Amino acid sequence: MRRRDCRGADTGKDIMLELRNVSFSVLEENGEQTKEIIKNVSLTIGDNEFVAITGPNGGGKSTMARLIMGIEKPTSGRIFYNGEDITDLSITERAKLGLGFAFQMPVRFKGITVKDLLALAYGGKLSTSEACQYLSEVGLCARDYVNREVNASLSGGELKRIEIATILARKPQFSVFDEPEAGIDLWSFQNLIRIFDRLHKEMNGSVVVISHQERILNIADRIVVIAGGEVLEQAASEELLPKILSDSLACLTHHETMDAGKSIEEGGK
Ligand SMILES: Nc1ncnc2c1ncn2[C@@H]1O[C@H](COP(=O)(O)OP(=O)(O)O)[C@@H](O)[C@H]1O
Ligand SMILES: [Mg+2]
Repeated sequence: MRRRDCRGADTGKDIMLELRNVSFSVLEENGEQTKEIIKNVSLTIGDNEFVAITGPNGGGKSTMARLIMGIEKPTSGRIFYNGEDITDLSITERAKLGLGFAFQMPVRFKGITVKDLLALAYGGKLSTSEACQYLSEVGLCARDYVNREVNASLSGGELKRIEIATILARKPQFSVFDEPEAGIDLWSFQNLIRIFDRLHKEMNGSVVVISHQERILNIADRIVVIAGGEVLEQAASEELLPKILSDSLACLTHHETMDAGKSIEEGGK
């Protein structure tokens, strides 16, 4: 049973998301040849499973996240969510089904306040105190931010936290975070971990976090290593993390990033 193999880690959970033989190619700059960025990837994410995706820069992790959210469409292969083929659905349609996404580089929206953005994510009216609650959860002094415009006056780290607050407001069944550690400098790393825990345990969601952080890889149920557009390896965190740390995976070259992450963590306490 091939499909079961793809589950890795014997999670015994129902499948929430499935990538079936997904490939993604783009035209090379010369406009003639195509470059295959994702190569025939088959992968499943279980219901209420916490999966960390890691691997070298340029390996295809962000592209895979964009394919899952519908920002890009596979060149071939299908994507299923709760058994439904969502390959041809738009980002909005996928969001309605319960998928949420935090970008590696959050977007700014001119003319929209932080409170508007949270209400949009929540899907209805939100009182100021409710909006403040979400902002406090990401470590922002809520009253200072609730009426601010989501524009260039916000720093990268502030934007990132606001984006994470919108994910909490949306309460997605399935969420993808692309390198959430980027730009959280002074915000305690512990808060980020707590948020994943909330989405995973309290809200019973499936959580996929693309990360190089040892702490995040450590709390995940399963680690998936993506390199060269392929799934290089996947296994339960306890099994794979020691291997990654001891560098037995030759193509993993992100130890420097991991070390940098440790100092973020220490600095944030
Ligand atoms: N739309 C695109 N056009 C051309 N090349 C792309 C496009 N999207 C991604 N790539 C390339 O595909 C590779 C994988 O990128 P990415 O998914 O961002 O990797 P990662 O997130 O693992 O660092 C990189 O070499 C990147 O330059
Ligand atoms: Mg990336």
